[in-house]
Parts: sequence; C-alpha cells; structure tokens
Amino acid sequence: MKKTLLFSLFALLGFSASADEGMWLPSQIESQIANMRTLGFKLKAEDIYSTDGASLKDAVVQFGGGCTGNLVSEQGLLLTNHHCGYGQIQQHSSLEHDYLTHGFWAMNQSEELPNPGLTVSILVRMEEVTDQVLAGIDETMPDSVRSAKISANIDSIIARADDGNGYHYSIAPFYYGNQYFMFVSEVFRDVRLVAAPPSAVGKFGGDTDNWMWPRHTGDFSVFRVYADRNNRPADYSPDNVPYRPRRYFEISAEGIQEGDFTWIYGYPGRTNEYILSDAADYIARIGNPHKIALRSLRLDIIQEAQAQDPKIRIQYASKAAGIANAWKKWQGEARGIERLGTVEKKRALEQEFTRWAADRPEYRDIVATLHTLYDSLRPYEFALDYYLEAFNAIELTRFAADIQNASPQRRAALAENFYKDYVPAIDRKVAVVLLARYLEQQPERFIPKNITGQIAHAGEIEAFVDTLFSQSLLASQERFTAMSSEQLEESLKNDPAVVLATQFATVYRTRILPSYRKFTHEINTLYRHYMRGLMEMQPDRTFYPDANSTLRVAYGQIGGYRPADGIRYLPQTTLRGIIEKDNPDIYDYNVPQKLRDLYDSGDFGRWATDGTVPVAFIANNHTTGGNSGSPVLDGRGRLIGLNFDRTWESTMSDVEFDPEVCRNIAVDIRYVLFLIEKLGGAGYLLDEMRIVR
Ligand code: ARG
Ligand code: GLU
Repeated sequence: MKKTLLFSLFALLGFSASADEGMWLPSQIESQIANMRTLGFKLKAEDIYSTDGASLKDAVVQFGGGCTGNLVSEQGLLLTNHHCGYGQIQQHSSLEHDYLTHGFWAMNQSEELPNPGLTVSILVRMEEVTDQVLAGIDETMPDSVRSAKISANIDSIIARADDGNGYHYSIAPFYYGNQYFMFVSEVFRDVRLVAAPPSAVGKFGGDTDNWMWPRHTGDFSVFRVYADRNNRPADYSPDNVPYRPRRYFEISAEGIQEGDFTWIYGYPGRTNEYILSDAADYIARIGNPHKIALRSLRLDIIQEAQAQDPKIRIQYASKAAGIANAWKKWQGEARGIERLGTVEKKRALEQEFTRWAADRPEYRDIVATLHTLYDSLRPYEFALDYYLEAFNAIELTRFAADIQNASPQRRAALAENFYKDYVPAIDRKVAVVLLARYLEQQPERFIPKNITGQIAHAGEIEAFVDTLFSQSLLASQERFTAMSSEQLEESLKNDPAVVLATQFATVYRTRILPSYRKFTHEINTLYRHYMRGLMEMQPDRTFYPDANSTLRVAYGQIGGYRPADGIRYLPQTTLRGIIEKDNPDIYDYNVPQKLRDLYDSGDFGRWATDGTVPVAFIANNHTTGGNSGSPVLDGRGRLIGLNFDRTWESTMSDVEFDPEVCRNIAVDIRYVLFLIEKLGGAGYLLDEMRIVR
C-alpha cells in the first residue's frame, strides 16, 4: 500500500525509473538523493562519494577482481563472502589443517595467512573524461580510425594523470561509449586470511539452496589488508602493518524490519538493460535453453556417479557447484524474461523508436540495421555457446590444451591438480553425450573435417570417444606419470586428445570467432547511436549505465515477495531455520555440532533477538554477479549485512528489473558477529569494530 502511494508520487514528480531499479555511479549519486531520502536515506551525496575528505567509498573494495569487500576497522579488517575467499581458504587447507571443513580462526595477527596474488583495490577518485577521450573524433570517421584514436587518447589521458604515485588508472566506457570515466585506485597486494567459518556454515545449503530463498548460509570470510609503514600498497612482507583506511563502516546491530531503506555499495560485473529484443529473445529462447540442456546432461552424469561413490562426491563437488551455479541462474533468467514479456516490450519500444526516428536521418535505420546484424550474428553466437558449453566442457581435451600451452616447468603441477579430481569414466560419458549434441546441433562448417570423416552417424560417436580415451596418454594419471618430460613433449604433438582439442580450437579461431567479433563490434557501435537516440527520445527517463565492474550504488527496501500463487515469503530467516533444515545424512544440511550445541544451550549472547539469531534477509536492491561481498547498508550508512546472492526468480534483472520480484540476498551482520564470537571464539575481532545497537 505504502509502495503504491510512493510510486504514484514519483510519477507526478517525473521519476520514471522505478524506486529500486538501477546501479548508479557514486560521483553522480546526487540525482538519486531526493528519491533515496524519500525511502529512508539519512545522509548526503558527499557521504557516499567525496574527493575532499573521507567518504564511504573509501570503505568499499574490489576483492580479488571478481567480488566486493568492505572495511570494518581502522586496522584494515575486511569482510567479504565465504565463496569469494573460497580459493584462498582451499589453498591453505590440507589434510592436517582442513580449514574448508573445520573453519579457520586466527587468534592474533601473527596467525593470519598471506595470499600471494590476491589483491584488494580501493577507489581514490573517478572523473568524467568523455571530452578528452572523444577529442578529435567526428562521426564521419571510419570505425577503425575512431577506435585507434580513442585508444591513443585514453593512453595519453592516463599518462598525463599518472603522477607516479603508484595508483592504478583505467578508463571505462559507459552507455556504449557515449560517456567515459577514469578510475584511479590504490591496489593492495598483501591481504591476509583472518577467519572463515566451516563450509557447513559458510556454504550451508550448498547448491540445493543456491539462488534460493529462504536461505540460511553464513556466507562470510574475514581478511586483513596490510600496507607498508607509509600506509601504501606493498608486496607481502612480515614488516608490513595493518592498513589504516580513510574510512571504515560502522556496524549496526539495531535490527531491521520489512520496509527499511537499504542500499548496496559494490562492484557489479555486467548487465544488459538496453539490448534489443533480438538479444533478449536469443537469451531466453535459444542461448539459455541450449546451455541449460547441455549442463543438465553433464550434471546428470556427475550426480549419478557422486551418489554411488563418496570419494567422487568430494572430487566433483566444486566442479558440480560451478556447473550448477550458472545453470540455475539461466533458468531463472529465461523464465523471468518470458514472464515479464521483455522481448515484446522491447519490440514495442523499437517500433516507437523507428517512428520517432523517421525524420531524423542519423537514427532512421539503426533498429533495422541492428535486426539484420543480429540475424547475421546468430549462427556464430550459437556456435560459440556450443564450443564453450559442449566441447570445452570435456575435461580431457581442455586439459590437453592447457598442458600443451603450459611451460614444461608448470606441467607437473598442472597435471597433479587435474588428476586429483579427475574421474575418466565420468568424462568419457560426458564426452559422448556432448559431442553427440554438438554434431547434431551445429552445421558442418563448425565441425572439424576430420571428425566428420570419422563419425559418419551418431552411432559411431561412442566408438570414437572410446578410442580417444583408450589411446590418449593424458586420459590416465598412470600413463601420464610414466612419461619422461621428453616423451611428454613428443606425445603432445600427436596425442589424440591434443589433436582433437586443436581441431576444435582451429574451427573456433578461424570460423567462429572472427565473425562473432565482427558482428558484435558492429552491433556495439550501433548501440552507441541507439542509446543516444533513446535518451533524446525519452528526455524524462533517468538512464542508469549498465554494470561494467565499476563501483556502483543500488538502493531499495527490505521486503518479502510472492514467488508463486498462494505463497508469500518473509524477508528474514533465523537460526531456528538452520536447525529445522539440519540433517546429518544430507551433506548440504549437516549442521556443525558446535552450532547445534550453541542453539540447544541458547547461548546467543548479545546477538539474541526474539529468542534466536537473525541469519539472512532479502531486499529489492538491483545487484548482479560481482556484488558478492558488498556491504548492505542502512539509511545512516551503517553495515547491516553482506550481499551474497539473488533469488533465481530475479536473475532476469540483468536484462529487465522487476521490483515486485527481484530480491538480493544478504547474510545478517548479527549472524556474522555471532559466529565470529561464539562459533570461532575470535571475539577479539569484534573489539576492533565499531558496533552500534
Ligand atoms: N549464486 C551465488 C553466486 O552467483 C553463490 C555461488 C556460490 N555458492 C554455491 N552454492 N555454489 O556467486
Ligand atoms: N553470488 C553472486 C556473486 O558472486 C551474486 C549473485 C548475483 O546477484 O548474481 O557476485
């Protein structure tokens, strides 16, 4: 009710973006502040982003390239997700110290574990550089001249800006190259693992619950950023000291309620909100269904093997998780696009655009040309999907290519890592079904000639794959390790797995990729004009830029939703739900004994709320992959949770956002604090934080 009133108010005020949609640039957040304040935001634009003093942007980090993290103490203490720190936790794990299974809790700074290669990047400032990037460009230039000029301009802008202080500079296009921003950041290279819960907490619910609500995952891990004595980034050294951030997040343990304002500060990876109907149609009706089917085939084979053998269950756990993650996301995305009628809505908009453009020569043919280009692109996009999802999904040939490309010194380590979790019998079955699909779905020009010679009809695939696996010296660890490095060098020239990988790679490189690149490039060039035209045609609409792994603000409210007729989900879960799901026989739901004991004894300390502990909540913030580990903040900019997922019904928000259904999922900060204190016995970490209640 409240919502409807707000919406009509916005309509009157001329807000045409919905209250909760969008990923906004921090330096341009001013345009959203009035709207945010109506919903419950209490701060000013300068609190979010400022270059004159500390602002909340100084407390948000890009973690390891693909995730977000946030700083919570003046000693560089950092919170992100368990699934973001997973690689590091795994690397430090061994049979003697199995941190994945049992968790890891440093009891003081000397016990923290360094992670070579892991970086944390903090934005120093961003500025618009459109005029400089486009200096000397005019619209009559051939595209190649234009692109070369733009890269040259970008290089010289960065060279001029770089004052040798060791900052990292990058320039990214927005709105398909209608606007450019430069990002200056400080990249820290000494980042140490401080704490991680057992996977049975940090990954509770596993792939069964992934992309789902109600959720009970304690998806967090703790790191610390180190700097040199001058507080500047440095390679790992025992002499480094905890980084002193310009700003860190205060934590609110006050509690949250449905309807509360909430916002998210982080690094969303990629969205495509302005694509044409053709592209949305491809995603929902061709790309996703095919990719889902290919992954279903793989998952069926893997899961059957896992069910029969506990060793295989572990060996393929992480692989299956990776396969299932996008598999589930694509299903939600395709369904969401259908449910919203995205393709039809986009078609209507394109017709409107074409009518509007009738007497504007610079825009008149854009939509028609784009349709034609999409028709040309389609077979290549479809082939690319199959190359990646059908051919590249065969582990043996992918390994063959990796080994071939690796330096001789790296091969032994690569092989050891590969064979540790490799079951040839699974891969052989996968190869049979995936190759069969590839041959069935792709035209002859995308199939290596040799293969067509050897496999005349589908009945011959099995024999072909059998020969491959029996003759390849890479298909078994015994055969591989029996080879000397000279023998390996020799066999890499004619091993059937190497040969097959090379044949497919050649088709990909010579017949798929060039046209795929050419058409996508032409399409993106036209999008630049289409986007500008759309902005002219709809002057009252607020356009937010697509996500591109740069820092953004999204805002909305905490709230449940109706996933289906007759069901309404509440916005919060609690520890009680973990105990309800507890089942020692189900791997994903096997609660650690210590957590059971804490529950039984009611030992919740200061985190007790209504006789339990809050665990996770949902809100309608517009997020995507990359927002994992993002701080979820209240109206005063205090940390109330860590973002870690979306519901699978929301995943079409990468193409069209629906505030009624789209929900991001966060772990409640009180659950994180409870776990650190009571499960990990690392309460000393809380003393560093500023917790208000
Ligand atoms: N769906 C989340 C994301 O896209 C979490 C993935 C990790 N968790 C898992 N159970 N596989 O990254
Ligand atoms: N788990 C995702 C990540 O790693 C976030 C989920 C999503 O919104 O796509 O960023």
